[in-house]
Amino acid sequence: MPATASTRGLAVVTGASTGIGYHLAQCCADHGMDLIIVADEPQIDAAAKSLHVETTTVEAVVADLSTPAGVDKLIAAIRGRAVHVLCANAGRGLGHAFLDQAFGDIEHVVETNVTGTLYLLHHVGRAMRERGEGRILITGSIAGFMPGTYQAVYNGTKAFLDSFAFALRHELRDSGVSVTCLMPGATETEFFERANMLDTRIGQEKKADPAEVARLGFDAMMRGEGDVITGWQNKLRAAIAMITPSDVLAEQHRRMAEPMSGGAAPSPVAPRIDSPSSHTTTR
Ligand SMILES: NC(=O)c1ccc[n+]([C@@H]2O[C@H](COP(=O)([O-])OP(=O)(O)OC[C@H]3O[C@@H](n4cnc5c(N)ncnc54)[C@H](OP(=O)(O)O)[C@@H]3O)[C@@H](O)[C@H]2O)c1
Repeated sequence: MPATASTRGLAVVTGASTGIGYHLAQCCADHGMDLIIVADEPQIDAAAKSLHVETTTVEAVVADLSTPAGVDKLIAAIRGRAVHVLCANAGRGLGHAFLDQAFGDIEHVVETNVTGTLYLLHHVGRAMRERGEGRILITGSIAGFMPGTYQAVYNGTKAFLDSFAFALRHELRDSGVSVTCLMPGATETEFFERANMLDTRIGQEKKADPAEVARLGFDAMMRGEGDVITGWQNKLRAAIAMITPSDVLAEQHRRMAEPMSGGAAPSPVAPRIDSPSSHTTTR
């Protein structure tokens, strides 16, 4: 049945310029939803053009979701419309030793993965609760189950999101709003390059297909499930992590994430381009 304005609904997908978010946006389009896709780079316009959409609309928003102003820009682009699906997926990693990282980069990870995500969820979640319907997908990670030696701050942010998603889910239990946490393992995206982790074992190993990861997350969200750990190896890793001492997990993580070069951390964060006005492309 072709989607119509009354049935197709609006989906907001953050971090949709590349990787898992791009494929989450494609899943939403495949289900006939109108889309607002967001990232902090102009590539989001190219992503909007390359998504396969038949009857739906795609609006691309460039906004730095690590800042209140960036989240406000996205909220302004929503223009008070009912959001049926929110995929809070934008996130970034940061490799190398904590004390060798620039503090600005550390803040950027926390503000993107945690503060900005919470601010957006707070706004959109309230409107969903008021309407008594909506689906939220939060991209956490199996990294949240283990101390992230050489990716310490990132793993901490994902532990936060994995935990938060379940708490919010249960607070909203009788509200008509479902919350699902997508917990991927290593996935073949630009994540490791952006996190300056290409010279690590995990950066170089074969990883999961982001389209498949997104599909599993999207399907779990549509079924209203609490979480999905993608891939049997990751399910096994998560189960083992539950019964393994943190010291052991932290050493295992060192082997995966320690830079082979052993060098200090160059800044992985590109200079920020602040766009003066709401940069929105509609097609
Ligand atoms: N790849 C993995 O192995 C893996 C495993 C588990 C969980 N995850 C999680 O999956 C999510 C998606 O990552 P990915 O693997 O698909 O990596 P990716 O290809 O680097 O995608 C990350 C997306 O988030 C956007 N983003 C980052 N910081 C942002 C900010 N401040 N404001 C707005 N957009 C921002 C990026 O665009 P810009 O940076 O250009 O804005 C990009 O669109 C992240 O939350 C990540 O933590 C990834």
